[in-house]
Amino acid sequence: MELGAGWGHLIPTLREKYPDKKIEVWERSPIPAIYTQFVYGIEVKRKDFFEADFSNAKLIVCYLFPDAMKRIETEIMPELPKGCWVVTHTFSLSGSKPVQVIKARDLYKTPVYLYQVH
Ligand SMILES: C[S@@+](CC[C@H](N)C(=O)[O-])C[C@H]1O[C@@H](n2cnc3c(N)ncnc32)[C@H](O)[C@@H]1O
Repeated sequence: MELGAGWGHLIPTLREKYPDKKIEVWERSPIPAIYTQFVYGIEVKRKDFFEADFSNAKLIVCYLFPDAMKRIETEIMPELPKGCWVVTHTFSLSGSKPVQVIKARDLYKTPVYLYQVH
């Protein structure tokens, strides 16, 4: 599940890495959502991802902002099945200990955090 997919730039990578998995894309901003839907030929849920059903989630990826991360921590993390992976870009989950932190190979060496639900 990608939460807040923007213009969908991550979708080709997710498809390449997980060719046999369903990718559930959430983006509430209409223009990026419609663009993503047409350009990548994928259904985009044009709604608030806090309304999503996370019961079958295996991997969550997101690049959001600090207030959204706080809500993910309190509202989404408790909903995730055991073993589910969570990858966050730039912003961490302050109440969870990452399994790994990777520095992206970009100008800012942006941190990418990997968590697993216990
Ligand atoms: C920082 S942008 C990142 C976009 C894209 N993932 C990327 O890496 O370029 C965050 C995106 O999340 C979307 N977003 C934020 N909160 C959301 C919510 N509660 N439900 C759905 N989309 C949301 C915003 O509209 C925005 O497009």
